[in-house]
Amino acid sequence: MMVAVTAYLASLPPPAAPESHPSGTQVFTAVGCAACHTPSLPLGDRQVSLYSDLLLHNLGPDLDDNVIQNQAAGQDWRTTPLWGLGIRPRLLHDGRAGTITAAIMAHGGEATSAVRHFRSLSTTERDVLLAFLRSL
Ligand code: HEC
Repeated sequence: MMVAVTAYLASLPPPAAPESHPSGTQVFTAVGCAACHTPSLPLGDRQVSLYSDLLLHNLGPDLDDNVIQNQAAGQDWRTTPLWGLGIRPRLLHDGRAGTITAAIMAHGGEATSAVRHFRSLSTTERDVLLAFLRSL
């Protein structure tokens, strides 16, 4: 009996490596989105799932509005919290992006390497990430 079970198990394909079925959170972090879109911030004695560090970042010339406000130059934008992303019709400070993918592709400056990683994701990984973002 033991031998049969062992032979049966040995005949099965190995379990899929975890990397081939990553969760949305894993892809989000691995790509580098979480560096600015901090999944959780302390607010008083609670943790809030904001997906923002609420800080200013230089996102490059494409997003520059040439307006200087307080300490923020034209290319500096405060990280937008990502909760409720799935129901926002327009994205980015000027509403130029109609899809989550377009909003990601418009990131430059400090987010350049995260966008490069996003572009190199497999279709499955990209779908997993976008489904995760829409669920926030
Ligand atoms: C260097 C910091 C930084 C990194 C890294 C970064 N973001 Fe952002 N993100 C921002 C900032 C700042 C904004 C606001 C830009 C604007 O309004 O023009 C933003 C805006 C967005 C928006 C638009 C939200 C809205 O409602 O307008 C989405 C979607 C988004 N980021 C997703 C991502 C994803 C996914 C990744 C990873 C591939 C990522 N970001 C990486 C800083 C970053």
